[in-house]
Amino acid sequence: MLEERPEVVIQPHNRRWNICSVPLIIALFAAALIPFYSNYFNRNCGEFQELEARESNQGTKLKYILYDGINRSDILIAVDRVLSRLGLEKIVVEDPSNFPANWNLLWSFKHQETLKSYINWSSIKYHQKINHFPGNYMLVSKSYLTTQDDFDFIPKGFLNSEEVQEYAAEHPEKRFVLKLKSNRGVKLVSPSEMNFTDTVALDDYFAQEYLEDPLLWDGYKFDFSIFVVITSVNPLRFYYYNKNVNLRFCLKPYSTANISDVDAYVIGTNHTAGQKFPYVERYIEAGYTYRDAFEGYIKEIGGDLDNIWQQVENVIRSTVLTKEEYMINGINRVKAPKYSFFELYRFDMIFDKNLKLYLIEVNMSPNILAIRDKIHNKFMFENVLFNLFSMIGVGTVYEKLNFTFPDYDVESMVAYHDAMTVKPEICLNPSCNDNCDVDDCKFCWSCLRSSKKFEMIQALHEQMNRGHFTRLFPVDKEKIDEILWEEITPVNKFYIEWFHEMCKKNEHFC
Ligand SMILES: *[C@@H]1O[C@H](CO)[C@@H](O)[C@H](O)[C@H]1NC(C)=O
Ligand SMILES: *[C@@H]1O[C@H](CO)[C@@H](O)[C@H](O)[C@H]1NC(C)=O
Ligand SMILES: *[C@@H]1O[C@H](CO)[C@@H](O)[C@H](O)[C@H]1NC(C)=O
Ligand SMILES: *[C@@H]1O[C@H](CO)[C@@H](O)[C@H](O)[C@H]1NC(C)=O
Ligand SMILES: *[C@@H]1O[C@H](CO)[C@@H](O)[C@H](O)[C@H]1NC(C)=O
Ligand SMILES: *[C@@H]1O[C@H](CO)[C@@H](O)[C@H](O)[C@H]1NC(C)=O
Repeated sequence: MLEERPEVVIQPHNRRWNICSVPLIIALFAAALIPFYSNYFNRNCGEFQELEARESNQGTKLKYILYDGINRSDILIAVDRVLSRLGLEKIVVEDPSNFPANWNLLWSFKHQETLKSYINWSSIKYHQKINHFPGNYMLVSKSYLTTQDDFDFIPKGFLNSEEVQEYAAEHPEKRFVLKLKSNRGVKLVSPSEMNFTDTVALDDYFAQEYLEDPLLWDGYKFDFSIFVVITSVNPLRFYYYNKNVNLRFCLKPYSTANISDVDAYVIGTNHTAGQKFPYVERYIEAGYTYRDAFEGYIKEIGGDLDNIWQQVENVIRSTVLTKEEYMINGINRVKAPKYSFFELYRFDMIFDKNLKLYLIEVNMSPNILAIRDKIHNKFMFENVLFNLFSMIGVGTVYEKLNFTFPDYDVESMVAYHDAMTVKPEICLNPSCNDNCDVDDCKFCWSCLRSSKKFEMIQALHEQMNRGHFTRLFPVDKEKIDEILWEEITPVNKFYIEWFHEMCKKNEHFC
């Protein structure tokens, strides 16, 4: 939907990860974690912490900023509602050139790099979080998504007319759609007529193989969308919202007989909202979800639901796994702390008539505005946001937020370190006391570096507060595509193993 390709920002100042700041982030941002954490860090950093904490401790509430960047404050109304219910305080930015510094959470509709002339990303503090990853364009830009990887679940994309003509000559049975990279205007076009420069904005087009024989629902083409959240990269953690899906239908019964009649084969800006489609409407009116309606339909046509959800998980997992490196590079490029980012996406997918799932696009600012015929979606959108904020520590329910570190009893109440320790049979062995370099000892609490402990606490917190989100990564090796496994980084392998051990200890972690 929104596709921004941020330009490279070169910042003169190289801010390095400073472990002394860790308790601060938590204190200011994820109040649920405060209690826990300060204990595990080197207290020698104390003076510095207190200074920074005092500086940012103006008032007692976490503060958020909403930035739409297109003069449409209504599009973020759901975020606003959820954050204010969670007790956060809104800062209104009248003039971005006078951007306040005392925020904890920035939710931007456009990519935050549109704010780069107002915000110095290298001076972002550890207690601040932003809702887009730098370097996410490889995931959210359709023309990159469809041309970079050779996944059999992504219809092949082309960035120039020679390529598409060549490919079409080899595959005469295929048809192609011409798309604007900015997402508007999709149409079947014969390869010989493809002209990628035939537009005011040069290079604005790309072509993609047309997915023939889509699965129809009562004669209509529809798409099937899933909310996905990445809470961290390096180490990578992401989840999908499993309680519900979003459904959109074409305005007219499916046909490609008249290619000018896009309403019959393109699910565009003009579509029928799930709630208004008669089959689905019956479910909604009886108190069920879009997901229930979808599963009802799939069962009716004899489909295998387990297989469908396996495909959903595999498509999302494989896609995100291949994009992590671009986000890591993006974060390094802007020289911001890597724990500062999270992102909510919507994966739009389509089934063919054999119930094979295809990924069509990934939206970085999914529409969460529930008005008119989408009013039913209000509670889904707000539930997605509520679960998301709970996971990342913005929404917590116990008394807090005075930004001082509570005592040891309170820390231990929320999450004592014995909630995260694994492999006692190895760690009790004296050899781990003497030498942490022995590979087997890497999970022993006394051998873990502070940054690892911090990441484990985040992972634990997400797992405990994930609501209707299901973890897609880290997961056991068996669930990961074999080819992709070769590229899993050592830090991600470490957490795959840790989650595996945690699962043995407590099935809640499986
Ligand atoms: C933003 O929208 C409001 C009304 O919706 C309008 O009055 C105002 O001029 C707009 N501002 C800009 C900078 O376009
Ligand atoms: C950005 O912030 C860094 C670190 O605080 C500082 O050294 C640098 O001068 C700032 N850059 C600009 C352009 O303000
Ligand atoms: C493509 O469109 C451009 C701009 O309208 C035109 O100059 C060019 O000749 C066209 N190329 C082809 C192969 O039709
Ligand atoms: C094809 O569709 C267009 C757009 O809906 C319509 O204007 C046109 O009359 C249709 N052509 C035929 C032959 O039906
Ligand atoms: C959507 O429908 C409206 C009203 O029927 C029409 O004015 C508009 O041009 C359509 N937009 C697109 C992108 O087809
Ligand atoms: C902050 O909270 C802690 C624990 O809840 C309490 O012990 C401390 O006195 C509070 N500090 C202030 C300045 O209110």
